[in-house]
Amino acid sequence: MDDFTKVIVSENDISRKLDALSAQIREDYEGKDLLLVGVLKGAVMVMADLARRMPPTVQMDWMAVSSYGSGTKSSGVVRILKDLDADLSGRHVLIVEDIIDTGITLHWLLGNLRSRGAASVEVMTLLRKPDAVQVEVPVKYLGFEIPNEFVVGYGLDYAERYRTLPFVAILNPAVYGD
Ligand code: XMP
Ligand code: MG
Repeated sequence: MDDFTKVIVSENDISRKLDALSAQIREDYEGKDLLLVGVLKGAVMVMADLARRMPPTVQMDWMAVSSYGSGTKSSGVVRILKDLDADLSGRHVLIVEDIIDTGITLHWLLGNLRSRGAASVEVMTLLRKPDAVQVEVPVKYLGFEIPNEFVVGYGLDYAERYRTLPFVAILNPAVYGD
């Protein structure tokens, strides 16, 4: 059995997209001190590859959050498992996300970080599922719009597996049956 039904974003697609997005981000933040904020664990790969395309003065910080909900539905109640180390007052912050699905988690995160006195808070996401968006989140830097399917790879997991794949693929539903 194949674990994936289809590769939807290849390693080369990701690399070229990050070249373009990082060029835009470098230009937009020229002369500013930029803090990249990644949400663990899914954003680890995109953060690493984006940050390496930034000037060496760029900084990285991390948060871990958990969304409460009934079953697979997020309720919008989010709990911080690991907070940032950095004080955001006066900082230019760019949230780096792997994927926006309903937008509920990121909507909450934006509100939370904006309440900390940052000079600016913007969002970059590698993937977005347009069919699934329930809460509009302003995304300044977007990688790819993808179909409303469960995907894995490049940081995204199923049961903590497949995060290390260099591409993004649709998981074979037969894998859930294990
Ligand atoms: P929201 O709040 O936007 O949640 O619904 C986004 C979070 O949900 C997870 N997610 C996925 N994880 N494959 C995954 O491995 C997917 O297709 C997928 N869709 C959503 C992910 O943790 C993201 O941060
Ligand atoms: Mg996950």
